[in-house]
Amino acid sequence: MSLKHYVIAQFIERFHTPPTFVVRAPGRVNLIGEHTDYNDGFVLPMAIEHAVWIALRPNATRTLNLAFVDFAQHSSFNLDQFERGAFAPIEYVKGMAQKLLDDGYELVGWEGVMSGNVPAGAGLSSSAAVEMAVGQAFQAVSGFRISPHQLAQHGQWVENEWLKLKSGIMDQMISASGVEGHALLIDCRSLATQLAPLPTHSAVVIMDTGTRRNLVDGKYNERFNECAQACRALGVNKLRDADLSLLENHAGQLDPLIYRRARHVISENARTLQACETMRRDDATQLGQLMNASHASLRDDFEVSGEALNEIVEIAQAQAECFGARMTGGGFAGCAVALVNREHANAFAERVLHTYREAYFNDRPSMPNDATPQLYVCTPSQGAQILTD
Ligand code: GLA
Repeated sequence: MSLKHYVIAQFIERFHTPPTFVVRAPGRVNLIGEHTDYNDGFVLPMAIEHAVWIALRPNATRTLNLAFVDFAQHSSFNLDQFERGAFAPIEYVKGMAQKLLDDGYELVGWEGVMSGNVPAGAGLSSSAAVEMAVGQAFQAVSGFRISPHQLAQHGQWVENEWLKLKSGIMDQMISASGVEGHALLIDCRSLATQLAPLPTHSAVVIMDTGTRRNLVDGKYNERFNECAQACRALGVNKLRDADLSLLENHAGQLDPLIYRRARHVISENARTLQACETMRRDDATQLGQLMNASHASLRDDFEVSGEALNEIVEIAQAQAECFGARMTGGGFAGCAVALVNREHANAFAERVLHTYREAYFNDRPSMPNDATPQLYVCTPSQGAQILTD
């Protein structure tokens, strides 16, 4: 059963009537441009078919009732009186409600069920997908419309102010405004987007290492602070405003670690712009090389890769049909991404999965949040939607 039909069936089981609306918001995979968004730089992600779905109806009260069927949890709160609580899925919903109320939108109570297939903690933006689906749900029942950009900014507010994670805007932007068949070059300063078509004979393969982040969100904020330190030393507002020659001129005054952090962000911004050009030229080979260089920079200069990610990326890069591969998302664990020859994508996925399991995963000590390693060939999907049929 598709997730759409599943949330509808779950809704009917609980509320004995069909839902008024069904909304969907996708996860994403980032092709290149990592840890650049909170530096006002460039990213090149695509929305994927893995998504969060909500079936819902307005309930003519001030209460919001939501069943998180994947977590066997049910939560509710009053739209006129709620506070931040301990971390739980409902906090994303409360955060979105708070931001919409702060901005003067009139909200209507609703009840619904949510389910999704974006793995959590895997670097595929399950939280942004939840935020964008909830944003669509509020729009559907309350009858207002806001732009995908604004919706994305609201989601980032939830992360930064409600959940206290200093993340950038990439995940929400691509979940809100993804376009079928394309990646999107996003300028994270102006929020301008440009379509980037996947090279004709290529396919994108997500490589889930089965490892999950454990208590590393602190590392994310640490990288954010290191970038801010680099900006102060270089005399720029954001690392987007620096180039390699400015960095070299200040090399002597910079702490070596801060120098490497800045070198990653500055070089990654340049690679991301080049990557978009290679896509316009339909040049999968060059795009793959840029992805390989991105991985090395994230591993060595920014130090956000991990053992499992490095293993699977090396295995992928060694395959004849692979144009390039890299870790994707925040890093440390979770998923990597490969660009491969489309004709052989399935054979590639099977071979890499087998080799990775044999050479690494099966022998490592198991960790509390481990999942099953998986590879999937994926196609760029549409951003968040309210479905009418
Ligand atoms: C996480 C954050 C994004 C971005 C990436 C790294 O996914 O949510 O804003 O910073 O890490 O590129």
